[in-house]
Amino acid sequence: MNDINMTYEEALSHAPNEEPARQYFFIERCQDMLEKLKESSGKEAFTFHIATFGCQMNSRDSEKLQGILEAIGFVETDTEEADFVLYNTCTVRENANDRVYGRLGFLNGLKKKNPHMMIALCGCMMQEEKVVAKIKKSYRFVDIIFGTHNIFKLAELIHERLEAKKMVVDIWEGTDRIVEDLPTERKYPFKSGVNIMFGCNNFCSYCIVPYVRGRERSRNPEDIVEEVRQLAADGVVEIMLLGQNVNSYGTSSENPVSFAELLTRIDQVEGLERIRFMTSHPKDLSDELIEAMKKSKKVCSHLHLPLQSGSSRVLKIMNRKYTRERYLELVEKIKTAMPDISLTTDIIVGFPGETEEDFQETLDVVRKVRFDSAFTFIYSKRTGTPAADMEEISPDVVKNRFDRLLAEVQKISAEVCGRDEHTVQKVLAEEVNDYEKGLLTGRMSNNTTVHFKGDPSLIGKIVDVHLDESKGFYYMGTLA
Ligand code: 5AD
Ligand code: SF4
Repeated sequence: MNDINMTYEEALSHAPNEEPARQYFFIERCQDMLEKLKESSGKEAFTFHIATFGCQMNSRDSEKLQGILEAIGFVETDTEEADFVLYNTCTVRENANDRVYGRLGFLNGLKKKNPHMMIALCGCMMQEEKVVAKIKKSYRFVDIIFGTHNIFKLAELIHERLEAKKMVVDIWEGTDRIVEDLPTERKYPFKSGVNIMFGCNNFCSYCIVPYVRGRERSRNPEDIVEEVRQLAADGVVEIMLLGQNVNSYGTSSENPVSFAELLTRIDQVEGLERIRFMTSHPKDLSDELIEAMKKSKKVCSHLHLPLQSGSSRVLKIMNRKYTRERYLELVEKIKTAMPDISLTTDIIVGFPGETEEDFQETLDVVRKVRFDSAFTFIYSKRTGTPAADMEEISPDVVKNRFDRLLAEVQKISAEVCGRDEHTVQKVLAEEVNDYEKGLLTGRMSNNTTVHFKGDPSLIGKIVDVHLDESKGFYYMGTLA
């Protein structure tokens, strides 16, 4: 029974306890409430807008949140002048937090003009107590706050907000629950992220992720393969398997299946053409995985392998559990097995106590490995992490090192990325190029971008493209 005339208390007592049935119950009630609001306001549609900060995990979460909002009956709009605005936040570095506070002020202005507007915040930043306290105190106009463990509950939270008419705050400290089978809405029809695990157990000393995303939990391999099968049947040709540390997939499960074994199973899904995954931790990358990647025709020729620092001394304080030598050996092994593979990485500059010598070691690893690209970050102090108690180094020194690293990374990248010039490569056409009419933009197996003339009907297809000219980080090509 789900009668819209039930009181809030009656509705709560009738809601099923098991998931996802409970959420479908609240989705239905929200649908009715939205219809009533439409009637009373005379508005034809209630719109929503999701702004996603941070990593691919958040992007995937946003697709799930979008699925729920659309099931309720909200209609997507690309501006923040919407009736439901949701910020899916990131807190990995402090500047991400500052951006959210800045934009909240702007949202408040919009809300004053639209009495129906609801503002919701979720994601990693909300898992920090001090953030929630600040919002409760200084940003009273926010309607709903939830975290990373309960995104599946969005319909229930909206229901509560509409009924209770006060700020709804629901943050879970941790969970071992994984709720399957809620509606999701993909951003691209032909590619999708697939979560294989949640959380992280590594506690790198600079990183806040284990505190906000909780302990490692792996999904059942059967559920993952089934999801991939359904995606492929629905036209998806490329998937990205997502986890904070995919190489330790399954280790926390009752019947462990290794990541290599999971890849092999997914490889057999018919219709699927490309498999990507991220992120790999060098300490857990097994020979079995290298073998599985080498054997597979679908696993892309790309590996993102965060280095963080090239100094064994710094790596130790970072709690990364590998040395510079082990990292270099691993890279050697991977390159020997797959000579064409493209390697990318993450590097942090200015970790507490980093000396010029340490930094030179990082530059040295960058020169030895010759990454296709590297994401370079200035160390950002995160409250609650072990590194937050270590003495920081001068910002001028950090900035100078950052600039030198970036110059080195870009120089190498331009040399390495051009290696396929004048060859024909398989490219997944992904979108119409915004800057030049008639051009499509796609990606090679090794993740390099290619622009080429083509009809939009090719989007979602893998086509042969001749790489006419390397532009450093991307190619200009023509259909072969
Ligand atoms: N400061 C700077 N960079 C960080 N990262 C994680 N935590 C921090 C921090 N406190 C970087 C790491 C990681 C990437 C996702 O973000 O390089 O691999
Ligand atoms: Fe953070 Fe390290 Fe876990 Fe990556 S592996 S999420 S850097 S703690």
